[in-house]
Amino acid sequence: MLLLFLFSLLLAQSELVTCQIATVPSTTINSPTQTSSSASFVTNIELSVDDLWDLYVGPISTFSINTTVEPTPIPSSSLIPPPSLFYPNFPTGQQVPLRTKNESWKFPKDFWYGVAGAAYQIEGAVKAEGRGPSIWDVLTHRVTNYVSTNDTGDVADNNYYQYKEDIARIAALGLKTYSFSLSWSRILPFGSGAINELALKHYDDVIDTCLAFNIIPMVTLYHWDLPLSLQNTYGGWLNEQIISDFSTYTRIAFSRWHKKVHYWFTVNEPIVFCNFYPLPESYFKKTSIPEQQQPYVCGHNVLLAHSGAYHIGKSLNSTLSISFKNNGGYKIPLTNSTVDAEAVQRAWDFNEGWFADPIFLTGDYPSSLKPYVEKFLPPFTEEQKAQINGTSDIFAHDAYTASFYMAPDSGIEACLRNQTHELWPGCFNSTNVYANGYWNIGPAGDPGSPWLNQATDWVPAFLHYMQETWNPREGVAITEFGMSEPFEELKTNLASILIDPIRSNYYKAYLEGILIAISEGVSVVGTLAWSIYDNLEWSQGFSVKFGIQYVNLTTQERYFKASAFEYVNMFKTYQEK
Ligand code: NOJ
Repeated sequence: MLLLFLFSLLLAQSELVTCQIATVPSTTINSPTQTSSSASFVTNIELSVDDLWDLYVGPISTFSINTTVEPTPIPSSSLIPPPSLFYPNFPTGQQVPLRTKNESWKFPKDFWYGVAGAAYQIEGAVKAEGRGPSIWDVLTHRVTNYVSTNDTGDVADNNYYQYKEDIARIAALGLKTYSFSLSWSRILPFGSGAINELALKHYDDVIDTCLAFNIIPMVTLYHWDLPLSLQNTYGGWLNEQIISDFSTYTRIAFSRWHKKVHYWFTVNEPIVFCNFYPLPESYFKKTSIPEQQQPYVCGHNVLLAHSGAYHIGKSLNSTLSISFKNNGGYKIPLTNSTVDAEAVQRAWDFNEGWFADPIFLTGDYPSSLKPYVEKFLPPFTEEQKAQINGTSDIFAHDAYTASFYMAPDSGIEACLRNQTHELWPGCFNSTNVYANGYWNIGPAGDPGSPWLNQATDWVPAFLHYMQETWNPREGVAITEFGMSEPFEELKTNLASILIDPIRSNYYKAYLEGILIAISEGVSVVGTLAWSIYDNLEWSQGFSVKFGIQYVNLTTQERYFKASAFEYVNMFKTYQEK
């Protein structure tokens, strides 16, 4: 405790925080050394947080609202549902709350529904109050064309200062839950070492504000914004040292908030962030790990880091619900051939199963993944398997869409024998177009998210698959789902931005799919719409919009879109009182 206090004092002065970027062997003028390999020339320059920003990221932008603001009253006119979008007209007033109800459907009483966001995508204030840079500050600022629009998260939705208003708006809509992520490099500016008390105080207040508004806070510990120092000191998720650094970080968070936060997610979508590796060359510490192996080395360390964090959380408070967030779409065989069925299974194994099978089933990789990964990964020991197995209470799935899967043209066996095959090592193929080669699986999202089509017809089947395959003890939750309204960024008129029919219909149809699955016995416990509002869509910048609220990035004003009402109305209509 005393140690924590001393560290915190240190942190109040962010410029006092320094970091050693490398230690052995150091070069000094006094002891010249000779070497034939340039790789052994390393330095131990000491860098403060400010140095890190200056050297690795450069100048950043700020916004005029740069202290925490109290929520302003939400105009009652903005809480009136929109006119009917799709359904037959009723003679009176607003249509959404009036449409016909299917009496055989219901969301259970304790079903939670809310919205989600993530630190780097919404917070802004990237350099405020001692935050250290993450790899995303470098990716957005320094790496040419990494973000198609050249946007950065410097200001984003200014949520770091406007979170009270954001939470008040969620409550005014009638939502129950707000899911957000902590910025690791705010709490530990170098990822390990000194702790930033100002960051802890900030998140104290985010959580307390949720509780004051009767909103259930849900915390994700890692949503892709790896502290830059950890990448540059040892290669981030490619090095097993991340496991103990993640433990230390998560212990700080669990210890501080386990009495106030019940629902925790350790890592968000490891399939996606492990596939960020290899990171663009020449901006981060080099690694000798072959490119194709890097995602799987990352995955190995994620499984150990996640499960370690799960046990830390449970040891502090056994009543917590702790899970990881998996992701992927439903996988439909393109044809009813045996090879397409096999391709579908391989697709599950190389996507969801990569993390879900070890965590929910066996403590180890799916059998189709093993022959590949055992060539370079150490096998999990029995002790590690026991540590990993059973470490997710909910099957928390970010499940947006569905696609068709099929064997590669050359066949699965030929692909497996050919390491240069473009589909190796997965050796399955996919498409969004039906086998007749004519119809898309469903209406497409924005061209900036080509992976996304509305495919809500398959929601019941998908939910059955999750429950029956991974059998989670606390049920299945859809922890992200949403639609990028096509070409929304081209709309300049506020009134037309706010009517988002494709997204509205997506939420309605998706939630009907969930209701069907629940009526058939699937235990679905909650949903989180992605996203609380438009935000930095990673490499697509702000050009692709997923928000159920629009944010004017010039003024930082927020507006509810029609989809927000469509979403909430489904619960008003179907939740048991
Ligand atoms: C998943 C990610 O968790 C989130 O960060 C992203 O913005 C959405 N999907 C939409 O692509």
